[in-house]
Amino acid sequence: MTTTTPQIQDALLEAFAFRHATKVFDKKRKIPEQLFNTLLEAARMSPSSFGFEPWQLLVVQSPEKRALLNDFSWGANGAFNGTEGQLGTASHFVIFLAHTDKTMTHNSEYQQQFMKHTKQLPDEVIGFINEAFQKFQQHDFGIEGRRQITDWSAKQAYIALGNMMTSAALLGIDSCPIEGFELKQAERVLQTEFGIDTEKYQPAVMAAFGYRLDSPKHPKTRRLMEDTVQWF
Ligand SMILES: Cc1cc2nc3c(=O)[nH]c(=O)nc-3n(C[C@H](O)[C@H](O)[C@H](O)COP(=O)(O)O)c2cc1C
Repeated sequence: MTTTTPQIQDALLEAFAFRHATKVFDKKRKIPEQLFNTLLEAARMSPSSFGFEPWQLLVVQSPEKRALLNDFSWGANGAFNGTEGQLGTASHFVIFLAHTDKTMTHNSEYQQQFMKHTKQLPDEVIGFINEAFQKFQQHDFGIEGRRQITDWSAKQAYIALGNMMTSAALLGIDSCPIEGFELKQAERVLQTEFGIDTEKYQPAVMAAFGYRLDSPKHPKTRRLMEDTVQWF
């Protein structure tokens, strides 16, 4: 039997209603490997500006490594609700890294290699994209310097995050996006304890995945459609 459009529509709307920022997961329930790989595929296949995929994902499963994040991750350590938080209970915990100006600047070695080997583009097309990207960064969007370029990369990483969370909800998997951490501390720990070259990659956002322990404490609220969308 094939799935009809109304069935897909219902499934999507149900998934959006089902998804909530899960504070505590059921520690006993692990996401099957195959399903989590599907979530990683949702991230990997995500679109990005110029197609540069300016993200890296760290899946942090070791309790020791997660414990290193606890001190500075107030949005995931359960300090607010007296629990073990998402860090202590999630089946899978992901850190999204954003590429910095070291790799996401026109003519950077990373971009040249990426276009040549991953995209398999001919030299003249690479030259054209280099020029277009330079104009985009310097003129159109005015993105310069480490912080702005890293933030631009982070914007792309959030698309991957969104796709992972929606895919998760469709599969009955809970999630929580996490910005509740101290950036400088995260950078330091990633460098010293995870071996990340933070000149090239900086933490953008984190996310926890698993199965909820309890129902959400509050019903979902959102602004009305007419307050959110303007048609012209
Ligand atoms: C980028 C981002 C960062 C967030 N950071 C945290 C966080 O650190 N800890 C947390 O418990 N929730 C976090 N949230 C969850 C939001 O508070 C939540 O999505 C919002 O209140 C709406 O609730 P709902 O997702 O349950 O519908 C974050 C959400 C987003 C999109």
